[in-house]
Parts: sequence; structure tokens; C-alpha cells
Amino acid sequence: MSDKNWNILQGDALTILQSFPNGTFDAVITDPPYASGGRTQSEKNRSTASKYSNMGNNAPPAFDGDAKDQRSWTRWCAEWLAEARRASKPGAPVCMFIDWRQLPAATDALQWAGWIWRGTAVWDKGNSRPQKGRFRQQSEYIVWGSNGDMPISRPVPCLPGVFKYGNPQKRIHLTEKPLQLMRDVVKITEAGGHILDPFAGSGTTILGAVLEGYEATGIELSETYAQIARDRIEQGLSEES
Ligand SMILES: C[S@@+](CC[C@H](N)C(=O)[O-])C[C@H]1O[C@@H](n2cnc3c(N)ncnc32)[C@H](O)[C@@H]1O
Repeated sequence: MSDKNWNILQGDALTILQSFPNGTFDAVITDPPYASGGRTQSEKNRSTASKYSNMGNNAPPAFDGDAKDQRSWTRWCAEWLAEARRASKPGAPVCMFIDWRQLPAATDALQWAGWIWRGTAVWDKGNSRPQKGRFRQQSEYIVWGSNGDMPISRPVPCLPGVFKYGNPQKRIHLTEKPLQLMRDVVKITEAGGHILDPFAGSGTTILGAVLEGYEATGIELSETYAQIARDRIEQGLSEES
């Protein structure tokens, strides 16, 4: 972790996860590629820039790993979730963001990997497209659980089950989460713990964790986003101090 209490490692999550000793982390909090964004495989196969943005050439950079079909995505999630569990302490919480299409597969993968699935919290974005005769898809979900037993006596306060935050206005990542949302979610971790985000993107989880007094390690495949995350975290921390 060098002299800082955070780090962004650039590379493939599954490969880097295998390098961590057993029981390194106090929590895994992450937002993986959903491999969603369409009803058919050809819709899923589109670039993330066109699936998740209507900003054309001004969209943030596209990212990889978002075109797997249902079986492949579920298997891959079970693999990285199992490695993340091995690298976590007994009792560590896990939180995984997901949308409505992939919610059933996400809860399967989490349990195949050996985590205990304990619930699904809601991120209410509020501002999604209205659809005549249909419910709005205005929420994403946080599938959460633990690495074995999770005693009520843990020194962590009561946490909400619904988080209401609009999407960030000036996004630097196509699927960036609101910083305050991540500051709230990381609080499932015991104070001062070490949080892992294997899919760091622009570093929102890592910045939120450090701002809340945790240590944090992120992994990000894209060199571009790994650098964006480092710069963004440095800037966010200097603005706060
Ligand atoms: C949904 S985004 C995370 C966005 C992040 N929560 C934020 O607020 O910026 C998922 C990220 O995972 C990265 N990714 C995709 N495949 C990966 C892999 N195999 N290993 C590590 N990172 C990967 C993508 O480049 C993308 O930035």
C-alpha cells in the first residue's frame, strides 16, 4: 500500500485477486461490468459508449468486459467472487451493484462463490426515462452478504435499505456511481477496515472509502480509467483537506 492508504492496481481483476494472501480485506464493495444494456445478445455486444451514454463523441471512454452472455457472465462472476472471498476475512461484508436484468444471475453467482446472500438494497436514481404503460426502471440494486457469520454485535450502525441519489452530472466514467452513495455504502465495513473494489472504474468506491476513514484497494483493467481514477482520487482528497 506504499505510504498512502489507497491504491489503484491496473490489470485483470481475477489475475490480481489471485495474488492477495488469504484474509487480506475487511470488505468487498464493487460495481462490475453488468453485461446488460439490451434484451438481445447483439444489443449487449454494442460498445459501452453507445449502450450507456447518448453523448456521442463526448462520451467518457468505452470499457471492456460488458458483452458476455448470461451463462458466461454468471460463471465469470462466480470465479472472481470466489477469489475475492478467499482474500477476505471471515465475516467480511460483500456489496455488488447490479441492474434488474442481471439481478437473479448476480445472487446466484454470489452464493456459488460461497458468500452468504443476506439481502438486496436499492439505489433509487429517481430520474430515469418514463415509459408509457410500464414501471420506470429507476433503480439499481446492491446485492449484499457476508463471508460466513455476520454477528449483529459488529460495531457498525443501522444502515438504510434505499439510497436516493441522482446520477452524477458531469460523468468521467460511463457508469459512474454518485460519490455520496458510495460514502454511504462503504459504512457497512467496520471503522478503519481495508476495502477492496476489483472493478474500480473512475475510483468512486476508493475515494468514498478513504474519505470515510478506510484503507482501500482498487483494481481496474483499463489503463485509461486506472489513471483517471488515480487523478480523481488525488484531487478529491486534496479538495477535502
Ligand atoms: C461498472 S464500471 C465501474 C464504475 C465505477 N463504479 C465508477 O463509479 O467509476 C466497471 C469497470 O470494470 C472494469 N473492468 C472490466 N473488466 C475488468 C476486469 N476483468 N478486471 C478489472 N476491471 C475490469 C471496466 O473497465 C470498468 O471501468
